[in-house]
Amino acid sequence: MSKVVPMCQAEEAAGAPSEWSASGVQHAFDILTIDGETRGLSLAKANPRHEASRENAVFDSVFEFGRFTFMPARRLLLDGESRVRIGSRALELLAVLVERAGEVVTRHELMARAWPRSVVDEGNLKVQIAALRKALGETSRGERYLATVVGQGYRFVAPVRSRTPLAENARHRDRPAAAHNVPAGLMRLVGRTADTVAILARLPCTRIMTVTGAGGVGKTSVALAVARTIVETSQYDVWCVDLSALSDPRCVSCAIATTVGLNTRSGGIASALATYFCSRSRPQWLVLDNCEHVVEAASAIAECLLSAVPRMRILATSREPLRATGENVYKLAPLGTPAATAGLSAREALRYPAIQLFAERAAARCSDFALCDDNAPVVAEICRRLDGIPLAIGLAAARLDAFCIRELLAQLDDRFTAPGSGQRTGAPRHRSLLATLDWSYQLLNEVERLVLRRLGVFADAFCLDSAMTIAADGETRAARIRDALSSLVEKSWVTVEKDGDTVRYRLLETTRHYARRKLAEAGELGLVGRRG
Ligand SMILES: Nc1ncnc2c1ncn2[C@@H]1O[C@H](COP(=O)(O)OP(=O)(O)O)[C@@H](O)[C@H]1O
Ligand SMILES: [Mg+2]
Repeated sequence: MSKVVPMCQAEEAAGAPSEWSASGVQHAFDILTIDGETRGLSLAKANPRHEASRENAVFDSVFEFGRFTFMPARRLLLDGESRVRIGSRALELLAVLVERAGEVVTRHELMARAWPRSVVDEGNLKVQIAALRKALGETSRGERYLATVVGQGYRFVAPVRSRTPLAENARHRDRPAAAHNVPAGLMRLVGRTADTVAILARLPCTRIMTVTGAGGVGKTSVALAVARTIVETSQYDVWCVDLSALSDPRCVSCAIATTVGLNTRSGGIASALATYFCSRSRPQWLVLDNCEHVVEAASAIAECLLSAVPRMRILATSREPLRATGENVYKLAPLGTPAATAGLSAREALRYPAIQLFAERAAARCSDFALCDDNAPVVAEICRRLDGIPLAIGLAAARLDAFCIRELLAQLDDRFTAPGSGQRTGAPRHRSLLATLDWSYQLLNEVERLVLRRLGVFADAFCLDSAMTIAADGETRAARIRDALSSLVEKSWVTVEKDGDTVRYRLLETTRHYARRKLAEAGELGLVGRRG
């Protein structure tokens, strides 16, 4: 399993700013390498000689010959399961020889590759070739990988299997530019460097990754930032397909076809898509955005395409995992907020991404707003009460043109009666927080809705037994209530806190208010309140 690099380490080591920027993420990602022994991620020092392989750092080729596996971009040569200790110049020579297996590579070409910035004596090349032969066990075990072509250079003579086409880089130069429809980021993404880096770092380990999290937490924003980095740094065609507007799950494959400009008649769209993607000269990356309401259909088409198109990868966003074969899930947490807000100075407050976001949006909305020691605790309290959810923070900050900061905090008590006025161009469900929650609530089944609204009575964390007592209903079996609770966790309505063997559950504050409102609407407030 890959280990996610903690935010502070990644950002510090990368010298990246705390907010997201393309160069920050790229820089951070450049210094992430796979450690061959642990197969986990570790931070390594950037090595300027690795520039050539950086281009493919996310999606590098894997070569297999004899009992060896070689990943040039990771500077990793494995003999079976063990890492072969070998210097970086010998590895660079191996890379060029393997990429051009069967061809004579001249001494001049080899030296230019291994010593790109200096002119060296040929004796150095001989020393490195000898080290390479030793590492490949040529002398002791009599296996044959490297042949000397007298007067010219060397040739890699063993059969090589490649999990990505051989000499991908060389062919890449002759191909048309990669196609994509990834929108440019209009909004600055605040406080997501570590998430973006962690997702990028996990991508090589999986063909399908899903970013999950609460509605409005920033799944789409982060996925698009990742997609932009993929466009900038890889050879993939990248296609973003927004599924949020679909009301019929059967339309998922049509939406993909429309995005890539494929004309299809009604039947056999999945196989037409597979044929289309297989015919592309470049590898393909699909971003299936907002899958939650068509999760089963999205999962089915994802599995179908991944098995039919060998050079395809998928990044999805959804409140709950797709549960597709081989899926790797990245749970996106809300932006950081302070636990205690009283007496917080503006300087301290700005260390929290949620507050940075509020201050930025507020200043954009209202030219005389500035975060200061006087208003910092109020802003911090607003962000804390909005659970660090960027969508909610954006909506709250947008109301500063009509209300002062203290009035805004007071209004949060009655938050759902105040219609938000978010971006006019946003999808309808983003225009208010209530709309986002309604949208997600409609996607729950009846038992999930019942359990969710009843959990609204808990002001704090609760255990499974209390949840079962509160949610108990003469007609609904306990097992269904338990299932509904675990489904609500998966769908990011309920968060789980584990402390040793103790498991407790909690509703985000936004969600709790919403659940209570639904409880009142169902006329169950008094009934359930007596049990709690
Ligand atoms: N880190 C962030 N910095 C700035 N704005 C953000 C951030 N994350 C999300 N937003 C904004 O919040 C809103 C909801 O984000 P979105 O990515 O659509 O959430 P989700 O996909 O989880 O529902 C959007 O308007 C988006 O621009
Ligand atoms: Mg989204």
